[in-house]
Amino acid sequence: MRTATTIASSKHVDKRLGALGAAAVAEISKDLRQLLADVFALYVKTKGAHWHMTGAHFRDYHLLLDEQAEQMVAMIDEIAERTRKIGGTTLHSIAEIVQNKRLSNEIDFVSADRMLSALATDNAQLLASLRHSHELCAHHNDVASTSLIEVWIDQTERRLWFLYETLDVEQGYRGASE
Ligand SMILES: [Fe+2]
Repeated sequence: MRTATTIASSKHVDKRLGALGAAAVAEISKDLRQLLADVFALYVKTKGAHWHMTGAHFRDYHLLLDEQAEQMVAMIDEIAERTRKIGGTTLHSIAEIVQNKRLSNEIDFVSADRMLSALATDNAQLLASLRHSHELCAHHNDVASTSLIEVWIDQTERRLWFLYETLDVEQGYRGASE
């Protein structure tokens, strides 16, 4: 049976035991905050393309982009909650998303291939940022974050694969860039 003494002492757990150091928390939280802002920005842009899609492949592209946006919604919550788990703080507002995001606002809604190209560029930039975040978390031995980031890298590579293959059909995308 728990006594008053054991209940009282259970409130005095040393939160630092096994936790990341203050410098690691500050550095990783800042990086994850920027990553979160980028994913929010890419989510809105992907939805924008989903809503404004046009052309002969409307249904396919409209559904593809919704699938990609849903993946980002899951990622958004995981990034924010990972930051809180390590003791950091994350985004609170649209203003903070704008302050922290690194992706551009550029997107041209005139044609399907222009929209898909813009999304491919942003996903490629996000992939580079994810690899950087992975290096940072590995440096601080934050293995849980690196594990999550590995899944997000795989998902981003899948989104890029679909976008590149679709663009290849649309405009000979790879041939044009080589
Ligand atoms: Fe929709």
